[in-house]
Amino acid sequence: MRLFTCLLVLAMPILAEDTSRYDLGHEATSEDIANIDIDVMPDGRGLPPGEGTVTNGEAVYQQQCAACHGVSGEGGPNDALVSTPANAGKKTIGSHWPYATTVFDYIRRSMPYDRPGSLSDNDVYALTSYLLYRNQLIARDVTLDADSLHRIEMPARALFVPDDRKGGMPIK
Ligand code: HEC
Repeated sequence: MRLFTCLLVLAMPILAEDTSRYDLGHEATSEDIANIDIDVMPDGRGLPPGEGTVTNGEAVYQQQCAACHGVSGEGGPNDALVSTPANAGKKTIGSHWPYATTVFDYIRRSMPYDRPGSLSDNDVYALTSYLLYRNQLIARDVTLDADSLHRIEMPARALFVPDDRKGGMPIK
């Protein structure tokens, strides 16, 4: 308690000061905001323009993902992304993701693990196409874009219930 009071007393003059004199940073421009405003909703809102094929996705995957997720989408040091008879029961994109749109969102914001944000939107569409194809959810000749991606029905959709809590105790 005494430490807390001390810290508060020390902080007060700082809080009271006019911080404009530090002259740090700048007001966020619309470009700054656009760079981080990349969330994609399950219904597809927020998907950017662009498209990608399974073939392009395979090439990017082998170059940038296979080392961690295995050359065929499983059997690597990190999460299996592709369901196979050998890994039945494991959580993969095919068995556990309720929306294809959020696969796109996840890859774009967080993969490759060691270089998040480095992929172009077309590469992310292509990778999503490739991984959906490997999970036998789309055909090899499909090209995915914002419109087609949100129409894909994922088999795992039925495993989830909508979270309709409005506050208070968690009830499901
Ligand atoms: C350096 C290793 C590494 C690389 C390279 C990498 N990943 Fe990952 N990936 C991970 C790790 C670790 C996780 C688990 C992250 C977590 O649970 O927080 C993960 C998780 C994922 C998941 C979520 C799996 C799930 O079902 O929860 C997807 C999808 C994915 N990665 C796709 C990709 C794609 C596509 C690429 C290539 C562009 C890629 N990753 C490259 C390490 C990597």
